[in-house]
Amino acid sequence: LQSANQLKNTFDFVAGETGTWKITKISPFIGEAMALAPFLNIVPTTDFNTISGKWTLRGQTSNLRYTTQEEKAAMDAVQAGLGRPEATMAALIPIKKSDEWWMLAQDQRRAIFADKSDHTKVGMHYLPGVARKLYHSRDIGEPFDFLTWFEYAPQHSDEFEELVGKLRKTEEWKYVTREFDIRLVRA
Ligand code: HEM
Repeated sequence: LQSANQLKNTFDFVAGETGTWKITKISPFIGEAMALAPFLNIVPTTDFNTISGKWTLRGQTSNLRYTTQEEKAAMDAVQAGLGRPEATMAALIPIKKSDEWWMLAQDQRRAIFADKSDHTKVGMHYLPGVARKLYHSRDIGEPFDFLTWFEYAPQHSDEFEELVGKLRKTEEWKYVTREFDIRLVRA
């Protein structure tokens, strides 16, 4: 009998008929969104396909790329973890960046992300209300480069949308070629 082995740091976001999160809305932002489904499950990826659905997106947790020691310490001091009982709302925002972005050197990307766009500084303002987790998908043959995941209480949902709006006006977002919005509530 074969048993399933978990793939390190890798997670499947499975949209389908069952799941721990109920999808309330899927909307396109840049390019096409994925199809609407009633629920979403986030499960560790195994080498043995157990869960299937209408669609699946895969991502991996990874090391930091652009965060300085000082920024990391500042975030660690205030950020909240996932799974807070009061954080009954969530957002999944898959994002793809252009070839132009990926052709840049590390220091050029950091300059756009931080110096020109203030991504972390803008985001810090919304901690600890919004909890976050970043998944990387670019190197595993996925349609998106990142799956970004956020959890928050209903009283922070307007602030969350404000944050998304602010980031989308930054220089960094000029390099985004595909992005769509999923909003969810705990099932
Ligand atoms: C990356 C902070 C909200 C999309 C990052 C990184 C930090 C950060 C520190 C860099 C990680 C690294 O060093 O590799 C925050 C904070 C937020 C926030 C504090 C407040 C809740 C958002 C939102 C979105 C988003 C709302 C999407 C609309 C991304 C993406 C990356 C990223 C796509 C990867 C960028 C890349 O590697 O090119 N974020 N973020 N973030 N964030 Fe945010």
